[in-house]
Amino acid sequence: MLTDTHCHLYDEAFREDFPEVLARAREAGVTACVLPGIDRSCHDALLAVADALPDFAFPCIGLHPTSVGENWQEELDFVKTHLADRRWHAIGEIGLDAYWSKEFRKEQMRVLEEQVVLASRAGLPVIIHLRDATEDFLRVLEDLRGVDFRGVMHAWTGSYELYRRLLTLADFKFGIGGVVTFKNAGVAATVERMSLDDILLETDCPWLTPAPYRGKRNEPSYVRLVAEKVAQIKGLPLGEVAAATTSRARKLFQI
Ligand code: NI
Repeated sequence: MLTDTHCHLYDEAFREDFPEVLARAREAGVTACVLPGIDRSCHDALLAVADALPDFAFPCIGLHPTSVGENWQEELDFVKTHLADRRWHAIGEIGLDAYWSKEFRKEQMRVLEEQVVLASRAGLPVIIHLRDATEDFLRVLEDLRGVDFRGVMHAWTGSYELYRRLLTLADFKFGIGGVVTFKNAGVAATVERMSLDDILLETDCPWLTPAPYRGKRNEPSYVRLVAEKVAQIKGLPLGEVAAATTSRARKLFQI
């Protein structure tokens, strides 16, 4: 029983062979996928998948940092307006990204902060995307002191020290994905020292494909390769890693 806690199953990359992708996921033992939103442009496709697979695909809504641009206010209003539409499983993905986009740094911080407050009020977890902006992220967390929230640091590749520090600042889980299977991946050493209770598994498909399929399209069935790698690193049976991470995921996302 595996849960892919970060899965863009609604992406066009799956349009041609969606039933086969789904069959392979089920075959691999995947019983649930969390669908993070990005911005208005993916909203309808995301909901179409969630509505077609109500016990398998769990929808989220949020404004991704790389979609924070000139019209950020409009995009943020879209999230606020649609929050009451239906049952969401998280606000995400949200966060900071200075790798793809440096131009709207201040706006990204504001949009992140506002969405964490929204999540806190709605009792929803957050899915955090963080790339090349750790100091700014720590600043935002400082501003959010006193706001009670929980969530996942998606595509986690940070150090053990940063993991420990973040745990003192908020109720975080850490999404481990395909990068852990890469040769010389630094995150493997971090995973070895992390508590299994803090780990969730994810693909971020269609991106970040694990070995041995690196460079090809990623898909939810490959979350099993991530689970196998985590089991190997921690010296635990695959079943134990699958059960622990799925139970944490179901609790966090209220699945
Ligand atoms: Ni993503």
